[in-house]
Amino acid sequence: MVAAIGGTRQRVQTHANFDLLRELINGYEFDQVGIVVPEMILGFKNDRQGTARRLPGQCRLDAGEHEAIATVQVTQFSRPILNLLALQVKQAITQRDPTAVFNHHIVMKKGSTPKTAGMNPKPLASSPVQGLLGELSVEQFLQRHWQRKPLLVRSAIPGMLAAVMVPPERLFEHAASDAVESRLVSQRGQATRRWSVEFGPFDALPSSRRRNWTVLVQGMDLVEDAAHKILQRFRFIPDARLDDVMISFATAGGGVGPHVDSYDVFLVQATGNRRWGIGPAPRPQWVEGLPLRILQNWEPTEIYDLGPGDMLYVPPGWGHDGVALDACTTWSIGFRTPSRHEFLSAWLGDQAELSADLTGTSRDDRFRDPKREPTAHPAQIPMDLRKTLHQWVEAWRTDERTRLATLDGFIGRHLSEPKAHIFFDPPGRPLSQKRFVQFASRHGVALDRRTRMLYDERHLFVNGEVDPVKPDRALRLLADQRAWTPSQSARILVNELITERVYSWYLAGWMLVTPAQLDTD
Ligand code: SIN
Ligand code: CO
Repeated sequence: MVAAIGGTRQRVQTHANFDLLRELINGYEFDQVGIVVPEMILGFKNDRQGTARRLPGQCRLDAGEHEAIATVQVTQFSRPILNLLALQVKQAITQRDPTAVFNHHIVMKKGSTPKTAGMNPKPLASSPVQGLLGELSVEQFLQRHWQRKPLLVRSAIPGMLAAVMVPPERLFEHAASDAVESRLVSQRGQATRRWSVEFGPFDALPSSRRRNWTVLVQGMDLVEDAAHKILQRFRFIPDARLDDVMISFATAGGGVGPHVDSYDVFLVQATGNRRWGIGPAPRPQWVEGLPLRILQNWEPTEIYDLGPGDMLYVPPGWGHDGVALDACTTWSIGFRTPSRHEFLSAWLGDQAELSADLTGTSRDDRFRDPKREPTAHPAQIPMDLRKTLHQWVEAWRTDERTRLATLDGFIGRHLSEPKAHIFFDPPGRPLSQKRFVQFASRHGVALDRRTRMLYDERHLFVNGEVDPVKPDRALRLLADQRAWTPSQSARILVNELITERVYSWYLAGWMLVTPAQLDTD
């Protein structure tokens, strides 16, 4: 079943299962949701009566790899079924106007152009971001602002209350741990602005009564549920581009100074108030002799005071300077923008590792010169050494097909690689595989916050590895939702191959048996 979100091309593609549907449509108005039945799968064209018979047991129908979705023609056989589905949708959302959903079907009937669902359903990414971008839809934001110009959103995250967030004391505890990256930036002398930077872990931080300092703690989404949840709201941008949530605490006057970042950032004010000056910095110059990059000869063109829940989007290359007006916390949702240099050096490093295997040798080759003659020119690079090095590069170069065939695999491994300091905690007393499946069917499963699961057409990548299993529909759903509901788990975990893989992720601590929380929650 596909629930089409009215008026837009976004879709919630899901299995024909009402429980799941109920969860996925949470947050939509009923008139935003319609029903499209996959014609190929239910076979309306060929077997309308048979379909009618099969529908009551539809939980067992599997969309499998069939991607072609057509708006169903409403016939005398399908009308009652559609009405039944519509009722279910309606009950799941609201009790208002019982005719509305049916009308929606008629609209769908009139607009009978067949639609094709892409390989990658976009349900969660397109789900409502509820004021996160102010008046703008995700599409408008992406067209007008993303990577182009800043956007200020007042009350973007109104529930951003200190009580449900990460209080400063807890942030300081993280800053004291060597499992997270933290920095302390302080200034002395308002006029001279002498900056200092120290790197954590910090046993002690300056007194909160002292002005002009800030502590910044990276990767909070990996350790704090609230931060993980906020990050999920930004999944209208692909995971491969998302980086982390950094939380900073500053006393009045504190900040990291005017600077530019090479990546996009959403600056969400959590508690207290901060004044942001922003302005283009097309050819940034830095103040010399400082331990951090502070823009020189840069003036903000716009100034905004942000209070709790307000958010400022700053594209890469825009100067920004946030000064705490009082003790405040700011959450930065940061993105990854790999540079050519970074990517090529990672890939070439990987190629070097691979080259020993490609030539069939399990060990690395090493230059040898048993016939070395005495040299009268010790500073000259010997020709035999140069020749061998040339040969190694030539052998690598001529093996182009093999190299390109492995490139997509490397891209996925590289992009799904957790940061160096991330370690997973395998379950202390693991369930047997049978018990795991039972638990999963009762409670659902969810990826650990730290797990990075990505896919392309041919590969599934988990935490820097290409998984042996192909990314079929169920696994793509897991990667997109980061969870399976109990009913999804029950249905999917009858497949032995998938069960074996999922169980191995559970044993590695990459996945949890838990009441599944869809990331749109
Ligand atoms: C801060 O939180 O003080 C700095 C965030 C940023 O500029 O990216
Ligand atoms: Co910045």
